[in-house]
Amino acid sequence: MTNVETNSINSDLNPWKSDFPIFDNNLSEKPLVFLDSAASAQKPNIVINTVRDFYESEYANIHRGVYSLSAKATESYESARKKVSNFIGASRVEEIIFTKSATESINLVANSWGIQNLTSQDEILITTMEHHANIVPWHLLRERTGVKIRSVKLDKEGYLDLDHFHELLNPKTKLVAITQTSNALGVNNPIPDIIKAAHAINARVLVDGCQGIVHNSVNVQELDADFYVFSGHKLYGPSGIGVLYGKYELLESMPPYQGGGDMIVTVTTEESTYTVPPFKFEAGTPPIASAVGLGAAITFIEEIGIDVIATHENKLLKYATSLLQDSNLITLFAPTTNKAGIISFIYEDIHPHDIGTILDQEGIAVRVGHHCAQPTMQHFGITGTVRASLGLYNTMDDIDSLVNGLDKVKEIFS
Ligand code: ALA
Repeated sequence: MTNVETNSINSDLNPWKSDFPIFDNNLSEKPLVFLDSAASAQKPNIVINTVRDFYESEYANIHRGVYSLSAKATESYESARKKVSNFIGASRVEEIIFTKSATESINLVANSWGIQNLTSQDEILITTMEHHANIVPWHLLRERTGVKIRSVKLDKEGYLDLDHFHELLNPKTKLVAITQTSNALGVNNPIPDIIKAAHAINARVLVDGCQGIVHNSVNVQELDADFYVFSGHKLYGPSGIGVLYGKYELLESMPPYQGGGDMIVTVTTEESTYTVPPFKFEAGTPPIASAVGLGAAITFIEEIGIDVIATHENKLLKYATSLLQDSNLITLFAPTTNKAGIISFIYEDIHPHDIGTILDQEGIAVRVGHHCAQPTMQHFGITGTVRASLGLYNTMDDIDSLVNGLDKVKEIFS
C-alpha cells in the first residue's frame, strides 16, 4: 500500500485530543485509534466534569420539588434545552423535546403524529439509505394504520436518486422521513431541496440528523424542517439523551406519546388532561444529568466551531480516501464528494468481522457489519462493510494506523 512513513510526517497536531481522557486511560497496550465516532463519540472533559459536578452538587428531580436543590436542577435541565434550541435555531425553546435517543424521537413522531394523521390512503416516503431507526417505526405504524411506505432508490455510488424521489413524491405522500447524512456511507442528502419539494405537495418532513448535526451547522428554521431528531452521544455528549425538534403548532396538535408524571394538568381516576409541549411529551423522570451533559457538549462544540470541526474531518476524509483508493484490493462505497467523515469499504473478500477483529488487536476501533442499515447493504449486494468514522480527535496518524492495520490484515490472509 502507499508510503505510510512519508504521510505520517504530515500528521497534524490535534489541538482537541487532550480534552478526551479516554486516550490516556485506554486499557489496551496499544494507543487507542478510535474510528467509530458515527456509532458513538468519545466524551471531552467538559462533558464528564459537568455530569459529575451535577451529580455531586446539584442533583435532584426536576419540575417537582419546592426546595432549592430541585429548583437548581430544573434550571440546569431547562438551560440545556435552551442551548439545544439555540444550537439548531429553533424559533422557541418549547420546540425541543428531550427523549432517551433519536430512535425514541422517531418512535414518538410515529406513535403520536403518525397515528393521528396517517391512514391506509396515505404514503410515507423513506429512502434506501435510512438507518433502521428511520424505517422500523414506520413499519410498526403501517401495521396499525395500513399507511403505505415507499422507498427512494440510490444510484450506483450510493447517492440518493433524486429523479426517483421526485417520481415517488405524490399527493398521497404525507410524510418524507429522510436522513441528512447516511450513517453507513457518509453521503449527505440535499435536505433543503427535499423539504421544499415535499412542502410543495403539503407533505411533512422528518429529518434524521444523527450524523448530519455532527458535521454541519443546522438551522431548523432555515431548513423549514417539520421534525428534526438527533442523539446526544454522537455529538460528544452523554448516552441516554435524544432530541426531538418539532414545529410548535405541530407539537401542540399532537397527542401525548406516553402517559405519566409531569405531562398532565389534572388527573382523576376517570380521566386526565395534558399539559403543553415540551412537557406533554416528557412523561416520567427524564434523563436529567444526560441533558445537562448534552448542554456541555454543545458549549464544547460551539467554542471550537462546527465549521472548524467539519474542515478538520474533511481533510482527514480526503487523506484516508486517497490512501485507500490506492489499493486495488479495497472497494470504497460512495467514495467521492459531498459526504461526511465516514469511510465505508470492503477489502477483497475478507469478512468485515475478521478485519474488525484484526484491527482491534492493533488498537484500532472501527465498526463492521451492516451498520443498522441493511437496505443500504442490500443495494450494493453485500452483507456488510468496514466503516471508519471520524471525530474531531482523529489525526492523520490514525489514518496511517488504519492503513498499516489493513496491511496486517492482508499479511494474515495472504
Ligand atoms: N447509529 C449508530 C451507527 O451508525 C449506532 O453506528
